[in-house]
Amino acid sequence: MISAVAYLLRPAAAAMLVFLPLLLIGWAGQAASLPVDRSLSQPLRNSETHKVVQNISQHAQSLQTEDDSSFRLMPRVNTDQDHMKICCLHANILDFYLNNILKHRTDHWHPNMTRLKVDMNRISEDLQNQGCNVTHYHDHHHAVEFRRKLAKRALEQVINKAVGEIDILFMYLQDFCVIPKNATNTAN
Ligand SMILES: *[C@@H]1O[C@H](CO)[C@@H](O)[C@H](O)[C@H]1NC(C)=O
Ligand SMILES: *[C@@H]1O[C@H](CO)[C@@H](O)[C@H](O)[C@H]1NC(C)=O
Ligand SMILES: *[C@@H]1O[C@H](CO)[C@@H](O)[C@H](O)[C@H]1NC(C)=O
Ligand SMILES: *[C@@H]1O[C@H](CO)[C@@H](O)[C@H](O)[C@H]1NC(C)=O
Repeated sequence: MISAVAYLLRPAAAAMLVFLPLLLIGWAGQAASLPVDRSLSQPLRNSETHKVVQNISQHAQSLQTEDDSSFRLMPRVNTDQDHMKICCLHANILDFYLNNILKHRTDHWHPNMTRLKVDMNRISEDLQNQGCNVTHYHDHHHAVEFRRKLAKRALEQVINKAVGEIDILFMYLQDFCVIPKNATNTAN
């Protein structure tokens, strides 16, 4: 079952996958009605979460300097590779955001920060429960390059830049942290 992701899933995580529909209220109905791949984490399909991500990202972008718009932190990945690899690389970057970026911003800065952090934490936990080994991607050249670009700049500047790109991070997670439709059918 779930051939595309099976090699990344530990047995416990695979069992989790089977029980997940019981845990995620409303998820089964949604998966049945939408002609899309099933997401590995519910907040990735939540339109309120999406709005908050867009809103906060735009707020951060509005605070940026001219220099900020001359570069991009988020890696430009080759999207031809296995989608779980792309997903787990971005789960690694998400983990970095949770530990190093988002903690520098509170609800004083934007009223939806707590909401964003709660949802992002949930996504991170879900992806790790589904077999993303965040540590394994620590030395991936894209992850290394991402941290190198950050380290070159002043903290305040780089925090706004990184938060301004959280919409890109969210988009990659939405697009690649999915169970392919075929696999979904056999899993049911
Ligand atoms: C976006 O954030 C602003 C506050 O910064 C708020 O007034 C507005 O309602 C928010 N919009 C959405 C769609 O959440
Ligand atoms: C975002 O913040 C605004 C302003 O406080 C609030 O009205 C809105 O409900 C918040 N959105 C979410 C999804 O928490
Ligand atoms: C996660 O990856 C690290 C580094 O590659 C490895 O040492 C560790 O054993 C992995 N953990 C699991 C649970 O696979
Ligand atoms: C899904 O199934 C179709 C037809 O059975 C097949 O052609 C396609 O390669 C499959 N896609 C994946 C991602 O396995």
